[in-house]
Amino acid sequence: MSKKIIIGNWKMNPLTPKDAEKLFKNIAELVSRVKKTDIVICAPFIYLDRLTKIRTSKIKLGAQDSFGLDTGPFTGEISPEMLYNIGARYVILGHSERRAMGETNELINKKIKGALASGLVPVLCVGENQRDENHEYFNIVKTQINECLDGISKNSNSKIIIAYEPVWAISTTLNQKDATPMDCEEMVIFIKKVLADKFGAKTECPKIIYGGSVNTKDAGDFLNGGGVDGLLPGRASLNANKFMEIVKICEALNK
Ligand code: 13P
Repeated sequence: MSKKIIIGNWKMNPLTPKDAEKLFKNIAELVSRVKKTDIVICAPFIYLDRLTKIRTSKIKLGAQDSFGLDTGPFTGEISPEMLYNIGARYVILGHSERRAMGETNELINKKIKGALASGLVPVLCVGENQRDENHEYFNIVKTQINECLDGISKNSNSKIIIAYEPVWAISTTLNQKDATPMDCEEMVIFIKKVLADKFGAKTECPKIIYGGSVNTKDAGDFLNGGGVDGLLPGRASLNANKFMEIVKICEALNK
């Protein structure tokens, strides 16, 4: 069985390079003995270069967005090739906080293709804004997956990670509600079905992870009962000890 993975999404934190280095160093020290869990930190673009200089064999670095093409007249954009060249290996794409700023499935699809072409692992975020009685949220997630992965080959499919992040469960959402491992498991089964319909039942399924207010109290429940291959904590990844707790829980469950 492949290793489980914990991906910390720092979002637009911390405020200074010094704090970013300190947090990263603290995490690197705490995870130095971890063996059975893959660990990724997705930091703001401007910190990535200096974080690659901090020695750790346990943490891979990731970005939180990237453009769909390598170079060209795209003012303000950062390309996946540039990210790869400074040492990033993962990139979160289609996060709900970016979708809320206008990012469409079509644009995310281009970004996924660019990331794959540059050797980055895309972490595609999908998830509904709210749950409705008619279960329309399943269709929302299905459309996100089908449109974001349009034109992606069967071979590339397994190089992607899908993060199920119900927006209503993210810590900063107004009137946030905790999702349960059952909510998650049900969606993971559905996502696997959508992927099997798209790529064929025999195609290797991407890792599916869960994000949405993951903390030290519920990480084990999601890993045990949520049917996922890992977690994508946001707020909890800004505290080295809490992040390590989550990694430890994962490590204990990884056989
Ligand atoms: P929180 O863990 O802060 O709810 O963030 C989840 C998330 O959006 C990770 O990408």
